[in-house]
Amino acid sequence: MKILSIHYSQTGQLTQIMEQILSPIKKCFTIDEVRFTDNDAYTFPWGKKNFFDTMPETVLMKKMPLSPIHYQEEKYDLVIFGFQSWFLSLSRPCSSLLQDDEFKKRTRGAKFITVIGARNMWVNAFLDSKKLIEENGCKIIGNIPLVDRNANYISAITIQYWVFTGKKDKMWGIFPKPGISEEDILFSTKYGEIICEKLLSKQENSLQKAILDENKINIPWDVLFIEKRGKKMFRLWASLILNKGKNPFKRNFFLFLYRIYLYVALFTISPIVISIYALVFRPFMLKSESQKKNVILHF
Ligand SMILES: Cc1cc2nc3c(=O)[nH]c(=O)nc-3n(C[C@H](O)[C@H](O)[C@H](O)COP(=O)(O)O)c2cc1C
Repeated sequence: MKILSIHYSQTGQLTQIMEQILSPIKKCFTIDEVRFTDNDAYTFPWGKKNFFDTMPETVLMKKMPLSPIHYQEEKYDLVIFGFQSWFLSLSRPCSSLLQDDEFKKRTRGAKFITVIGARNMWVNAFLDSKKLIEENGCKIIGNIPLVDRNANYISAITIQYWVFTGKKDKMWGIFPKPGISEEDILFSTKYGEIICEKLLSKQENSLQKAILDENKINIPWDVLFIEKRGKKMFRLWASLILNKGKNPFKRNFFLFLYRIYLYVALFTISPIVISIYALVFRPFMLKSESQKKNVILHF
């Protein structure tokens, strides 16, 4: 079996996760391992302007140039693909990889296992990836999303500290560390063992069930609520900024408005809307909520 493991990571967090997952698999299979880069388009830590400026093209999955990738094989049977969420979407380097002709040629028809390292909103990024992967005649057989388990509003603050300073430590000495916990990163070796076992016994169809049976993967209802509505709004803003922002001054102006919208939506509107929904509507929506979760978790 020809296996390609490929991922993008700015901070090295996803690289750590991929290493944990791959370590048991490498004992049984040879893997072509690639960490691809963005041709120096994005720097880490981020400047505030560059950070928000990448939103429209990311959300609308506009392809960007990547650094050349050196593949060992002409064709792959299995791809272990690691990516992250950016603005409730597949990160731009990763959506560009899935649209790259060379990558598509070498992986056409392959099986995919997706590995996600996000703050806590991975669902839309996963659906973006699924669309592009399936368009290339491929099939996802397993999905392993890892998240920061702190409360949504806490991680929304600490992720900014991390991406704008580059420091993965306790902000002001009082906030929890940003990102995925060391414990969860180390636990991902278990997923590698499961993958290895399912590949050796040719039981790939039950891989996702075995991953979920570990009881570590869940989609909190409020996250699902925000992802659904937030993505629609982000698409509107992204189209508006690209349409109106042909000249740089106008683009910056609309990006500034989007930034205000984002902070107001995140810290003011969404807590109010979520509280009302929880009290008034959610009791009647529990069945459809769990159906939606099931569709995503079992894809
Ligand atoms: C530009 C940008 C936007 C991001 N947007 C989201 C998001 O919408 N949802 C989320 O869960 N995480 C988001 N994150 C966090 C990333 O998914 C990721 O966990 C983190 O940046 C670690 O980076 P790495 O995987 O490149 O090492 C964002 C990060 C960046 C840099």
